[in-house]
Amino acid sequence: VVGTGHLAWHLVPNLLKIGLSVELWSRRPVASINLPAPAKPWPRKEPQSLPDAVLLAVPDDQIAAVSERLATLLPRTVAVLHTSGATPLDRITTYFPARGVLWPVYSLRREDEQTDWSTVPLVYAATTEDLQTRLRRWCTALTEHAYALDDEQRAQLHLAAVFGNNFTNWLTQIAFELCTERGIPFAALRPIVQQTFARLDDQAPATRQTGPAARGDAATMTRHLALLEEHPAYARLYRALSQLIEAGKAQNADEK
Ligand SMILES: NC(=O)c1ccc[n+]([C@@H]2O[C@H](COP(=O)([O-])OP(=O)(O)OC[C@H]3O[C@@H](n4cnc5c(N)ncnc54)[C@H](OP(=O)(O)O)[C@@H]3O)[C@@H](O)[C@H]2O)c1
Repeated sequence: VVGTGHLAWHLVPNLLKIGLSVELWSRRPVASINLPAPAKPWPRKEPQSLPDAVLLAVPDDQIAAVSERLATLLPRTVAVLHTSGATPLDRITTYFPARGVLWPVYSLRREDEQTDWSTVPLVYAATTEDLQTRLRRWCTALTEHAYALDDEQRAQLHLAAVFGNNFTNWLTQIAFELCTERGIPFAALRPIVQQTFARLDDQAPATRQTGPAARGDAATMTRHLALLEEHPAYARLYRALSQLIEAGKAQNADEK
């Protein structure tokens, strides 16, 4: 494993748990002091004992450069994998024919307790059948939710995660601001927000949509927009989302 950041902190103990032996390479081995596998400095020449695979736990924009650096140290037979949702496989240098990805669809921070990955979705893909088979074996040992997805599907899932995770979090930030600017404790809203996400299952979330746009309640929407006079950007967002909800409801009604 190359890198000792957020991902490595959660990845390494899980790799050890499934019986893999792990070596960590770090530019600053001292920073990895609390990791369950001791980190070594980057070697200067080809190491005597070669890894089967190298997992790049480095920032997305460093994947290409770090894989080029590996190409100066390792033979082509070593498999090289990255761990990024947004990065195509061809960002790893083609010097290594066996390239792959192992992407946990989860938010991982070094500050958090090390996560047990048995419920974390893992997405994998590889350029060779042999690596694909090894990845399937590792991923299904690590989690109950392993998905073999190609580059396009992974990019689409990453995009979906921006809507489902990043944007929804920012919508709750707006809700937080609307509460606090009138001295309303956010605790008064939090349970209904948590309930929304706790109810998520495999059904289309649209089937559980509530609120004025879903009801076509124009009077309430007009009152809400008046309350947003000082927040023109939020008013635009309110209108855009309400229009999408109304259009989605109309389409569903037509289909029925
Ligand atoms: N964090 C998440 O929630 C998460 C979730 C899914 C996937 N990922 C993916 O995991 C990968 C790593 O993300 P991260 O959040 O762990 O990043 P990070 O916390 O910034 O850690 C990256 C590590 O890479 C090493 N590094 C940085 N630049 C390097 C360079 N030029 N050469 C060699 N090593 C370098 C550093 O380790 P040393 O200083 O020890 O060398 C650094 O700690 C990314 O591809 C990301 O998309 C992250």
